[in-house]
Amino acid sequence: MAAVEFISVARHYPGSDRPAVDALDLQVADGEFLVLVGPSGCGKSTTLRMVAGLEPVDSGQILIGGKDATNLAPKDRDIAMVFQNYALYPHMSVADNMAFSLKISGVPKGERHRRIHEAARLLDLEPYLERKPKALSGGQRQRVAMGRAVVREPQVFLMDEPLSNLDAKLRVSTRTQIASLRRRLGVTTIYVTHDQVEAMTMGDRVAVFAGGRLCQVGSPQELYEKPANVFVAGFIGSPAMNLIPAPLHQGNAQIGEALIPLPRASVQAALEAGSTSVTVGFRPETVKIAGDGEGFSATVDLVEILGSDAYLYATMILPESDRSSGTLQDTAVIARISPRNAPRKTEKIRLRVNAEEIHAFSRETGQRLPT
Ligand SMILES: Nc1ncnc2c1ncn2[C@@H]1O[C@H](COP(=O)(O)OP(=O)(O)OP(=O)(O)O)[C@@H](O)[C@H]1O
Ligand SMILES: [Mg+2]
Repeated sequence: MAAVEFISVARHYPGSDRPAVDALDLQVADGEFLVLVGPSGCGKSTTLRMVAGLEPVDSGQILIGGKDATNLAPKDRDIAMVFQNYALYPHMSVADNMAFSLKISGVPKGERHRRIHEAARLLDLEPYLERKPKALSGGQRQRVAMGRAVVREPQVFLMDEPLSNLDAKLRVSTRTQIASLRRRLGVTTIYVTHDQVEAMTMGDRVAVFAGGRLCQVGSPQELYEKPANVFVAGFIGSPAMNLIPAPLHQGNAQIGEALIPLPRASVQAALEAGSTSVTVGFRPETVKIAGDGEGFSATVDLVEILGSDAYLYATMILPESDRSSGTLQDTAVIARISPRNAPRKTEKIRLRVNAEEIHAFSRETGQRLPT
């Protein structure tokens, strides 16, 4: 097992106008399960491939187990990678698929046998060792792909969207299996996904990427409770956080007709940067249906009943003065409410949010304002 450290790592593909990964500083602790998450094209696979040695590093350093691995050949890195398209060898049995890389690296037969049976036991593949891949379900094939990595007993696992070929139900069960497998093996793992639910449920820590840059790294709870910028705020959580431009009025943020007090430090930072408004964020579950004279008014666009919860999609109704001056736009708001007594479509309602549940970000930079 080993820690992995990125020091100012960059990769700039020839011919592209900006780096695919830029100035990456990140430490993955020994035995940690770190998830890289972000939208398509943000540099997740490139990052993983640099650790594996499949992609050159243009500047910076990658340390594995404290040693400089930046220019090591892939075979000398003691790493096993599981890809999205794990392509098993169709003419080989499950056992031979798992044995293949061990044979190539000259692991003796007895030792191969021990490792394959150990991995098959961990992955519930013992009954299938003699079958060909075509006689397996999608989830079982996925586990064979994991098995090929496990038998190598590497210092680090790299997994690039290993569940994306599976249907929704199988993804959830395989997700749980990978998490428990990794707890048993305790091997440092870097796991790539673009699915924020997968990231939040599996990671010890989650690193959110956007446009080749690391936006924030922290525990799932930290990212949820204290997103560092509007990108992370909008990316983590489903339905997404409401993010709304809000003019400042004497220390308050205006949300529709409501004035909500902000921390003094937030207001001061915005004003010092020459801004007269902020972006406020509040999660759907913090929005409550309010009584007359409270909060702000909104028109119901749609209510989705999901059994235990309901999602209310509404459009905030602006005060007449803001509407006529054009300073604010109509804004959509999502609330998670109880399905009992949910309002009906087109109904006019009032909504409120508590000041403690408001996140404030700079309108210009998108960064979280100090509190
Ligand atoms: N071999 C390559 N040559 C040139 N550009 C590349 C190459 N591979 C990737 N890129 C570009 O680098 C950027 C990052 O790609 P990367 O594959 O790391 O993204 P990703 O986060 O893994 O995306 P996805 O979620 O779609 O897999 C993208 O803009 C992509 O187009
Ligand atoms: Mg990728």
